Amino acid sequence: MLEVHNVRKAFDGFQAVAGVTLGVARGQIAAIIGPNGAGKTTFFNLVTGHLRPDAGTVVLNGRDITGLAPHDVCRLGMGRSFQRTNIFPKLTVFENVQAAFISHRGRGLSFFARVEGLYRDETYAVLESVGLGDKAGEVSGFLSHGNQKQLELGIALASEPDLLLLDEPTAGMSATETRETIRLIERITRERGLTLLFTEHDMEVVFSIAQRISVLHQGRLIAEGTPSEVRNDPEVRRVYLGERRR
Ligand SMILES: Nc1ncnc2c1ncn2[C@@H]1O[C@H](COP(=O)(O)OP(=O)(O)OP(=O)(O)O)[C@@H](O)[C@H]1O
Ligand SMILES: [Mg+2]
Repeated sequence: MLEVHNVRKAFDGFQAVAGVTLGVARGQIAAIIGPNGAGKTTFFNLVTGHLRPDAGTVVLNGRDITGLAPHDVCRLGMGRSFQRTNIFPKLTVFENVQAAFISHRGRGLSFFARVEGLYRDETYAVLESVGLGDKAGEVSGFLSHGNQKQLELGIALASEPDLLLLDEPTAGMSATETRETIRLIERITRERGLTLLFTEHDMEVVFSIAQRISVLHQGRLIAEGTPSEVRNDPEVRRVYLGERRR
């Protein structure tokens, strides 16, 4: 479904992503792990069009999408969430997801209709599935951090993706919130038949749900394989034992 070939990105001569080749098969749950600064977020940005690669190609469902703008990539079926939350804090939970539906599907023939009712059912369905059904009317900026991350996921789902990229979906969460969120993500991925690529620092999470793991270190892939292959890889162990997490 996703084929990334030899993408590179330098910032002022510093190679943040130094030639990465990686594929994700349809229906797969794949993870990218690596220490802070390994290039995970930069890699995501290259895939989603938020950054243009210096070299390399990104192919989605057989179509070359290298250099396309994020909204065009999104329209082709790739949804994402961000490491730092990306919600409209003054809008309600409902309005955030509804806005994402409007931006994705457009206002259609209802241009002169009142905006309040647009995609109401779809919005509630997404809020239910991310566990925010009872928080629709709350102002998003006042939600707990965990709820804000759930909302982010809802916003990503409103673009009706086939492939979902989640950049540290459990960042800053408590252990309990992390477990719940991962269960939620797993369920949504299965229910909606999505393909998932995510980054994550919590190794327990990664090893419990990922079918394939790619390990980035200093902008390069140093290992790739099943959880057990990666867990036993000497280079991976060296990188993880030698460097402390934040
Ligand atoms: N816009 C930018 N300008 C300059 N340097 C950048 C920029 N974005 C990222 N970098 C640098 O590129 C490297 C990779 O950063 P990136 O954010 O991709 O790492 P990461 O693996 O996502 O790290 P983390 O686990 O902390 O989220 C880092 O050294 C970072 O400082
Ligand atoms: Mg990052």
